[in-house]
Amino acid sequence: MKAITVEPKKPGTARYEDFPEPDEREGSVLVEAVAVGVCGTDVEIVEGKYGWAPPGKTRLVLGHESLGRVIDPGLNSSLKKGDLVVGIVRRPDPVPCANCAVGEWDMCTNGQYTERGIKEIHGFMSQRWRIEPEYAIKVDASLGLLGVLLEPMTVITKALEQVFIIGQRAYWEPRVVLVTGAGPIGLLAALRLSVRNFEVHVLDRAESGPKPQLVRDLGATYHTGSVLDLDFNPDVIVECTGVGSVIADCIQKLDSGGIICLTGVGAGGAAGKVVADMAAAAVLKNNVIFGSVNANKRHWYRAGENLKQADRNWLRRLITRCEKPENFQQALERQPDDIKVVIQFSEI
Ligand code: BGC
Repeated sequence: MKAITVEPKKPGTARYEDFPEPDEREGSVLVEAVAVGVCGTDVEIVEGKYGWAPPGKTRLVLGHESLGRVIDPGLNSSLKKGDLVVGIVRRPDPVPCANCAVGEWDMCTNGQYTERGIKEIHGFMSQRWRIEPEYAIKVDASLGLLGVLLEPMTVITKALEQVFIIGQRAYWEPRVVLVTGAGPIGLLAALRLSVRNFEVHVLDRAESGPKPQLVRDLGATYHTGSVLDLDFNPDVIVECTGVGSVIADCIQKLDSGGIICLTGVGAGGAAGKVVADMAAAAVLKNNVIFGSVNANKRHWYRAGENLKQADRNWLRRLITRCEKPENFQQALERQPDDIKVVIQFSEI
């Protein structure tokens, strides 16, 4: 079969190449790949900045935003041939730490977790892949290709869960919410916040293309420019750019008793000023700035429900480009109007 592989930490080594059939030790469920979403993490791995090959190997199969069709459910599985499934990304550490021991691998404390397509286990950008039945999430057949949005939805489902848990530290009536960055994570955050009766604002650099209308169609307000120029102080900010200067502005702009959830890591910024602002905001305004990564099974289940309930026509507009596996390089190059680019391995 063929797979998109890379030698982690070595830029320019990604190729679409012949690769052995998936190892039975990777799971008893055999799946035919339908599509795999591309995200910033994949771009970082291909640029040689992130990623780890499986122990004893030099190359890693890329891809963690999967969608596939069951070819063989194997034994001990409630899945059936033809079911659409998405693979959970992270596996608990082998020690395990207390969080991994209770199934909260997203909160792993010793860093020895593994992640498909990212850290030490092959990903899903291969014509066929295998998975353990307990890590295969069945998606509603009517979602079709939109099932590829499940993984990003899990990331935001966890992040928002954490925001609301943290909010319970005091009497809290959040009303105004800002999302910075209108990529897939930011737009899915806006979608989930807009069903909760908040006043939702989304800020992004793009002045044209599909993003402004997607935001407006949620009943939210779209902004460009600086966070500091907004004429309101958000109670909650979901930061999805990872850009140091945007994070610094968010810290200044957050209302008292507010919460900032950081979901992205990327370009740094003026670290000294950020730290001083952060201390002032956190102490004098009781603010919380926290980070959120990955998702556990509870979030995967909820995200499946969230995706099923969402407006399909709106979701469809998030997938702005489908590329063939042989053109994976084009899929990795960000174009101005891109939101979610997927690599499509087979028809749905
Ligand atoms: C993935 C997460 C993963 C994180 C860090 C993200 O792109 O969506 O599942 O935990 O990268 O590796």
